[in-house]
Amino acid sequence: MMSLKIIVVPCLADNYAYIIHDKLANKTTLVDAPDFDPIQQELEKKKWVLDNILITHHHEDHIAGVAELSKLHNPKVFGAESDKCRLPRLDVSLSDRDKFSIGNHIFKCIDVPGHTLGHVAFYCASENIVFTGDSLMTLGCGRIFEGTALQMFESLDQLKKLPEITKVFSGHEYARQNAKFSLTVEPDNSFLIEQAKQIEINLGLKLPNVGFSLLTEKRTNPFLRADTNEIKVALGLEDRSDLDTFTTLRKMKDEF
Ligand SMILES: [Fe+2]
Repeated sequence: MMSLKIIVVPCLADNYAYIIHDKLANKTTLVDAPDFDPIQQELEKKKWVLDNILITHHHEDHIAGVAELSKLHNPKVFGAESDKCRLPRLDVSLSDRDKFSIGNHIFKCIDVPGHTLGHVAFYCASENIVFTGDSLMTLGCGRIFEGTALQMFESLDQLKKLPEITKVFSGHEYARQNAKFSLTVEPDNSFLIEQAKQIEINLGLKLPNVGFSLLTEKRTNPFLRADTNEIKVALGLEDRSDLDTFTTLRKMKDEF
């Protein structure tokens, strides 16, 4: 099967939208629509018509462009059934583990509440890619606005179970700040030092810091490492639960 082409579209101050193109099926899908103009420009450049829009969560900086893009392209809009009252009008409402096909590829919806209650991620096993919005991010995770620390912890745990070769595409460019924080927690983590260097190289080349593998993130992202001895020792929380450790990390990051 021919693989999908993914185009990262920087939007607003630090958002990313993703255009996924299935050449064989000639289908084009967007993940999140922070802004109309940059996405439309990219579609025009490629002469692609949008067939689908996948929405990760209801925040304005992920849906602001949906109405205008819909008017022009008439795509099918996919989003969480549980949040449909505050999402743009959905053509396909998804629940946890629902599968749907996009061109020749099967995608799965994974509930990842925490940042918002109806937040979902989109996983494609055949391509080893996952679109995580503001749940799991490069060296970080989204702030907990609506859910509980337990919900976010369990959401990240769901994502952690995906194959380690899975590439993670999140909704924002927060990598430099996330790396800075992660290095204060684990200054001697050699994988983290390496990734932080790569992040700076990418920023210098104006390349987005997304698409790191889950294996890399499991070695470096403190929010995926709350169950490790290294993190607990680093924070002096040896006798505390994984959830307590995660909650402490999240609080530290909020105040960083
Ligand atoms: Fe958000």
